Amino acid sequence: MIKLKTVEEINKIRESCSLLAETHEALGKLIQEGITTKELDTFAYNYIINHGGKPAFLDYMGYPATLCTSINDVIIHGIPGKEKLKNGDIVSLDLGINLKGFFSDSAVTHIVGQGTAEDEQLVKVTKECLYFGIEQAKAGNRIHDISRAVYRHAKKYGYGVVKDFCGHGVGFAPHEAPQIPNYVGAGPNPRIKEGMVLAIEPMINAGTDDVKILPDGWTVKTLDKKKSAHWEHTVAIFRDHTEILTISH
Ligand code: MF3
Ligand code: CO
Repeated sequence: MIKLKTVEEINKIRESCSLLAETHEALGKLIQEGITTKELDTFAYNYIINHGGKPAFLDYMGYPATLCTSINDVIIHGIPGKEKLKNGDIVSLDLGINLKGFFSDSAVTHIVGQGTAEDEQLVKVTKECLYFGIEQAKAGNRIHDISRAVYRHAKKYGYGVVKDFCGHGVGFAPHEAPQIPNYVGAGPNPRIKEGMVLAIEPMINAGTDDVKILPDGWTVKTLDKKKSAHWEHTVAIFRDHTEILTISH
């Protein structure tokens, strides 16, 4: 069941999303060669707690950290640890916050130091996929309009579009209905309505869309070891406009 949100509820979700955007901004300043993903995770944990929030992913379905830190051929759910960022790495930071019971979700991909032109394109096009998706996320459209926009843009560049993981509703919990695939499949295709709060999150691979999950049960990698990028925003649907919530307010 898709849980629609009132304007008052969206106001609370916006506060959670603002804190998330602020946390991402602060994390972005720490991105440099030599920092470990665990150090980023600890920073995010403290920042969120100090601002009255709780990390939404920590202990969610057993996930062991605040952030997902996914480097290079890791698509999503990389677990922070001792690994140091290196020049030219691409690292996605995915973060969810629970602020007073209202949930936000957003991911960004950073390039560490100097990236190759190829990697810069992958990161840029993945972000464009997110924005093309958001453009279709409006009352009266359907979820597959988002999916199609993301997919088509990625395919112009011959990229692999990850099918095994989706965007989703968010706000009262880290994951809610509906699922938002990044391709048009046979699944449900609900109408987008006023009051929906959606996390749209293209996961785009330089090569194949095939994935493998590591024995830790979380880390999702590309099967061909080529790089992958990930961008995500939480957006709210109003009758006549859509608002990106996970930006600084
Ligand atoms: N951010 C991911 C998503 O958007 C999930 C993070 S990891 C988990 O769906 F622990 F929460 F599963
Ligand atoms: Co998400």
